[in-house]
Amino acid sequence: MKFFIDTASLQEIQHAYDMGILDGVTTNPSLMAKEGISGKANVMAHYKAICDIVEDNVSAEVIATTYEEMIAEGLELAAIDPKIVVKIPMIEDGVKAIKYLSGKGIRTNCTLIFSAGQALLAAKAGATYVSPFIGRLDDISFNGLELISEIKTIFENYNLGTEILCASVRHTIHLLECAKIGADVATCPLKVFTSLKNHPLTDKGLAQFLEDHRKAEELQAVQA
Ligand code: E4P
Repeated sequence: MKFFIDTASLQEIQHAYDMGILDGVTTNPSLMAKEGISGKANVMAHYKAICDIVEDNVSAEVIATTYEEMIAEGLELAAIDPKIVVKIPMIEDGVKAIKYLSGKGIRTNCTLIFSAGQALLAAKAGATYVSPFIGRLDDISFNGLELISEIKTIFENYNLGTEILCASVRHTIHLLECAKIGADVATCPLKVFTSLKNHPLTDKGLAQFLEDHRKAEELQAVQA
């Protein structure tokens, strides 16, 4: 399973990269705004700075919502760096833009997927990734993980090459359930990745090991 970090914060991206577990980054206009990034030149420079940290897979989302404008913006984003994946919303013009961009060899990530039908449509258009939003479905009392299973079944039925990128992942249980289903990628906030390491028995066991080692050293010093 590939791990992407869902943030526009260079510090958080560097943190996850330094852990040695990072395969990519997803951003969206809200995450860029949270970092105070605005204005075309600043946005482009920020995407370049992200690309300079990670090895591949930097999803940069278009703001445009018409076919022609999405294509123009997508081409500009893709020209920033070969690591860029153009993120396109699940709207009809978006489907057409995915078809166009994928035909030009540009990778795409179809975002705001909330149904299996939307995922199938994006895959038919040639999307590299589809991003079903688990947490936002859970928020409205739909089963986000069930959607991941449905998409997995459909993509396997027809051997579709589009990868399932689980998005809106809120906690480690979401992540682990996606892994059990066999999703290709999960994009998560940094705290989800750092939380994976936590277990009270690990902390307790390590404290015991260190204490036993200290006592053995003390005993040896007394006997010497
Ligand atoms: C996906 O690419 C989105 O950026 C993201 O996962 C949305 O997550 P949220 O629902 O926690 O905002």
